Amino acid sequence: MRVAVIGTGHVGLVVAACLAHVGHDVVGMDDDAPTIAQLSRGEMPLYEPALAPLVASSRAAGRLALTTDLRAAIRGRQVAFICVSTPVLPDGRPDLSAVEATARRIAAAEPRDLLIVEKSTGPTNTAAWIERTLAIYGGPGAREVEVASSPEFLRRGSAVHDCLHPDRLVVGVKSARAAQRLRDLYAPILEGRIACPFHEPCVAAVPPPFVATSFQCAELIKHASDAFLAMKVSFINAVADFCERVGADVLQVAEGIGLDPRIGPSFLQAGLGFGGSCFAKDTLAFLRLAEEQGVDLGLVREAHQINRRRVQVAVEKLRRALWVLRGKRIGLLGLAFKPHTDDVREAPALALAARLIQEGAEVVGYDPQAGGAARAALPSLSLADDPYSLAQGAESLVLVTEWPEFLALDWGRLKQGMRRPVMLDGRNALDREKLVAEGFEYLGMGR
Ligand code: UGA
Repeated sequence: MRVAVIGTGHVGLVVAACLAHVGHDVVGMDDDAPTIAQLSRGEMPLYEPALAPLVASSRAAGRLALTTDLRAAIRGRQVAFICVSTPVLPDGRPDLSAVEATARRIAAAEPRDLLIVEKSTGPTNTAAWIERTLAIYGGPGAREVEVASSPEFLRRGSAVHDCLHPDRLVVGVKSARAAQRLRDLYAPILEGRIACPFHEPCVAAVPPPFVATSFQCAELIKHASDAFLAMKVSFINAVADFCERVGADVLQVAEGIGLDPRIGPSFLQAGLGFGGSCFAKDTLAFLRLAEEQGVDLGLVREAHQINRRRVQVAVEKLRRALWVLRGKRIGLLGLAFKPHTDDVREAPALALAARLIQEGAEVVGYDPQAGGAARAALPSLSLADDPYSLAQGAESLVLVTEWPEFLALDWGRLKQGMRRPVMLDGRNALDREKLVAEGFEYLGMGR
């Protein structure tokens, strides 16, 4: 099918590359000329595993074009995805101006036989508003234009895999025709016949269910999924604090809880809490929008409050171990909000670094991908070139992001350079026995 993807940020670029990979003729459009120029030169504007080769192979096969011209992008297309960003406003509500502007521009281009698909995360009624915007601003030439919502559940760091092998494909539609067009578009993914370049060999080959529902349900499925996962993380973090008080180990408690199939083992890793724009931003937006409807989602609010306290819990642990923080060098292993990404939005590392700097500590960080972004967000943060130079002269290291390379460090070498071998394992990801055997003072979260 002929597809346009408007907005080539993280979601848009992954969607465009994956749809081209499965055989569609895709054009990626973005107003940001430097990004389009960069992509056209074969350079990636962001780090996402497996995405660069997918973009390159789709470009080489002539299935992924790039442009800054929206009118040209949608001409002759059957489906146009709106993947523009929805940043958060100071009051917590999402800023939908880019979505509205895109809908108006599409309307002005007088499209014909086009299905416009909302992929940007918007509150309930965003698809309905796009539909209304098209009706208001659409010229007389606009014909057979429909709107759908197709929320994404892509995780940073495994977005290509999640796009090609989703757990489910949810679409919000108003007509059987729109549902059928999306079923046709997603057919290669629904049939589970696409090899995923993310894992070698590919693991998820179970065909996903196709859930066709209303606009409102599709939009709520997205928000409620994220809010539920955020609550799960905060729940185990609250349990982790309890574990510490009574001498239990949250790892064992989480394992025991997760064996109940009604609960499941995922998203029960206690630690420094969740980061990333989605859980932090989109769930807050969900909360605000519910309030506007007179619905109190107090559970979600509490999940945020618990999450906000995680950094304070870590600072108190460091203070208990080091007594005075002023003047002490503390190294942060990992700055991205999770492994396999260069994204530092709402990253616990930044909040922790800011707090420690405020206390007068000398904070140094190292991350395989996110150093530059972290430094840009927090200029007072120093960067090290590798974990061993990070450890030089440090009184403590904090594992903030569980990159696989941090789990297999040469602990003896690391310890040698440190003034005091205190290791705060902010993700409970390290081998406690091994570190203790190497002479580290190990501090976990809820252990
Ligand atoms: C999340 C959702 O998982 C995706 O389904 C969704 O599409 C996406 O947000 C989005 O809407 O943008 P993402 O934020 O990339 O994906 O990453 P997650 O793997 O969900 O992790 C979020 C945060 O929770 C990370 O900081 C991670 O370290 C933390 N986390 C996760 C925990 O602290 N404990 C856990 O057990 C799991």
